[in-house]
Amino acid sequence: DWSMSAFREEAIARIRAQVGPERVICALSGGVDSAVAAVLIHEAIGEQLTCIFVDHGLMRLGEGEQVVTLFREHFNIPLVHVDAADLFIGELTGVADPETKRKIIGRLFIEVFEAEAKKLALDGKPAKFLAQGTLYPDVIESVSFTGGPSVTIKSHHNVGGLPARMNMQLVEPLRELFKDEVRALGRTLGLPETFIGRHPFPGPGLAIRVPGGISREKLDVLRQADAIYLDEIRKAGLYDAIWQAFAVLLPVQTVGVMGDGRTYENVLALRAVTSVDGMTADFYPYDMTFLGRVATRIINEVKGVNRVVYDVTSKPPGTIEWE
Ligand code: XMP
Repeated sequence: DWSMSAFREEAIARIRAQVGPERVICALSGGVDSAVAAVLIHEAIGEQLTCIFVDHGLMRLGEGEQVVTLFREHFNIPLVHVDAADLFIGELTGVADPETKRKIIGRLFIEVFEAEAKKLALDGKPAKFLAQGTLYPDVIESVSFTGGPSVTIKSHHNVGGLPARMNMQLVEPLRELFKDEVRALGRTLGLPETFIGRHPFPGPGLAIRVPGGISREKLDVLRQADAIYLDEIRKAGLYDAIWQAFAVLLPVQTVGVMGDGRTYENVLALRAVTSVDGMTADFYPYDMTFLGRVATRIINEVKGVNRVVYDVTSKPPGTIEWE
């Protein structure tokens, strides 16, 4: 892509001019934006960049490890992997209110990130700059997915809360780009297609896909079911036609029959939507044989689920996530 190669060269020059010899830290979320920003900045300033990946233990099956492998092994970018699953899951245990969950996750993320940044400063020069994958739509519309002007539907957790707290200067090389341009840039930087084409994933992760309070066990059940669902979507060639697809583990048990025995296990809801920007969305009209196949696989393969339902709510009135 010619325009992206030109952009890349310009952006690299700008980053070098802004940062000089100083140190930069970058919070990786597992998403495309922060990854593209990090790879671009690494091209510009190499080892002056350190990435910090706060792993809250709320990622999809295998995705935490994928981020670590991609950055350390494929790109050779210095990466601090903080395994904070015990902390996050511990503080979330017994918390059922969606907004409280979101606030706990946002607060812990900032605390853990700050502590890691301080540790880095101890064995070297403190970082003067904080890198972020802010896009143009984030710049013009800072409240990107809440409802009306004065009602907060959901408090957004992403890395946006960091800079004010940490009193650092920002490096935001993607500020002029839209999502599709970030993807094109990511391709020219050599990020794998599977990573670039990924569906959006919320900052609070799977915690908001287990209504009624999380536990390690519930998260494991959800991760297995979600992986099967996404596997079937990919096999059916539907992944790119869908904006977002995921499973939600409901805090409801129902009676079922397996072999000649009674079961009493949880209900799992499947969600899939099409959307342009996440502000409005339509449920995806799967054909029933596909849904039946997914349900059968999940119930046969995942212990803890004996019933699967499909969410046919559009946004509005529903939101995409359940919490
Ligand atoms: P809702 O559920 O409000 O979500 O219809 C719209 C889009 O935003 C994603 N989402 C989030 N993304 N931090 C994020 O980075 C969050 O706290 C968050 N909450 C929801 C959601 O997955 C969908 O793509």
